[in-house]
Amino acid sequence: MCLPGNGNWWCRSLESNALNIANALWWEEDTLCLLDQTRLPAEEVTLHITEVSELIEAIRKLSVRGAPAIGIAGAYGVVLAARPWKESSHPPDWEQLTSEISALREARPTAVNLSWAIDRMIRTVSSAHPPSRGAAYDAFLAEAKNIHEEDEERCRRIGEHGAALLSETSQVITHCNTGALATGGIGTALGVIYAAVMQGRQVQVYADETRPLLQGARLTAWELQRANIPVTVMTDGMAASLMDQQPIDAVIVGADRIAVNGDTANKIGTYQLALTAHSHNVPFYVAAPTSTIDPDLETGREIPIEIRGKSEVVRWGNLQTAPEGVDVYAPAFDVTPNRYISAIITDRGVVRPPYNLRSIL
Ligand code: MRU
Repeated sequence: MCLPGNGNWWCRSLESNALNIANALWWEEDTLCLLDQTRLPAEEVTLHITEVSELIEAIRKLSVRGAPAIGIAGAYGVVLAARPWKESSHPPDWEQLTSEISALREARPTAVNLSWAIDRMIRTVSSAHPPSRGAAYDAFLAEAKNIHEEDEERCRRIGEHGAALLSETSQVITHCNTGALATGGIGTALGVIYAAVMQGRQVQVYADETRPLLQGARLTAWELQRANIPVTVMTDGMAASLMDQQPIDAVIVGADRIAVNGDTANKIGTYQLALTAHSHNVPFYVAAPTSTIDPDLETGREIPIEIRGKSEVVRWGNLQTAPEGVDVYAPAFDVTPNRYISAIITDRGVVRPPYNLRSIL
């Protein structure tokens, strides 16, 4: 049976466990276990994934989501694809494996972490020239666990670097969900908040609900309540009013892909929040691991933006929220131009403009 944080091969630090931080995914008995995020906050249901096709569906449905978590899931997806190789003494067939995981690589196009993790899995294991399929399978599992553990460590470092930007008492706005549910550790933007709280600071969080799938209201509020961190949910259009009414110390968001010049793709609504912060002189920080930086893209214009189905905008469950047949604009992400980003908090430190992110890779 899969129990989050119980009997797994890895374990969070005692400090972060004190905040009751959840696990989004874990590997147990040849199975990838996912906490099904489509069912939160009402129910905590574990999905037991044994096939690549099931994982593709879970990623597309957002049962597992958030750029780093999708990357880790993709790495375990390669292990699932190689499962028939377990204990086989035949030589590995890299072409067959690569074609089997091509649809996984494309399951969601914006977060670079998915293709980054899958490419790293294939590159690392094939270049070690394992003598048999069985040896390749073992190497895949070891590499997926490395990627998972590294992400936990990257989150810890982002938290440490980012917490230093907050004062003893802070009011912070965040967008979407960037916490433990979105990563292999304490999170990126939420990781900064967790780290600040672990250091004894007081943080009041305002969470944008994050239309259309409500990752802020459903997931960020759920995580922060579990951790006893004060959180107030507001709809995506309320940030300007809040900044007008009371002092806000910072906006901190995550990222799905960052171009070399600092332009950042993140959940739809982030750009609007950055403009609002700019008009109110509120620092706007992006927190992300270096695995989210795409060294092949010079600017954000080149970032592929996922378009979601219109039903996510015109329906909520069985409820129709817009007239049948109406046209819908449904990008899942937008790109915030680098000029609105005060700093990018990474696992390798805080980077300030002018950005040339290749220099930190
Ligand atoms: O569509 P989602 O829920 O996968 O979008 C997630 C985000 O936009 C996050 O802000 C981003 O992936 C960073 S998660 C640490």
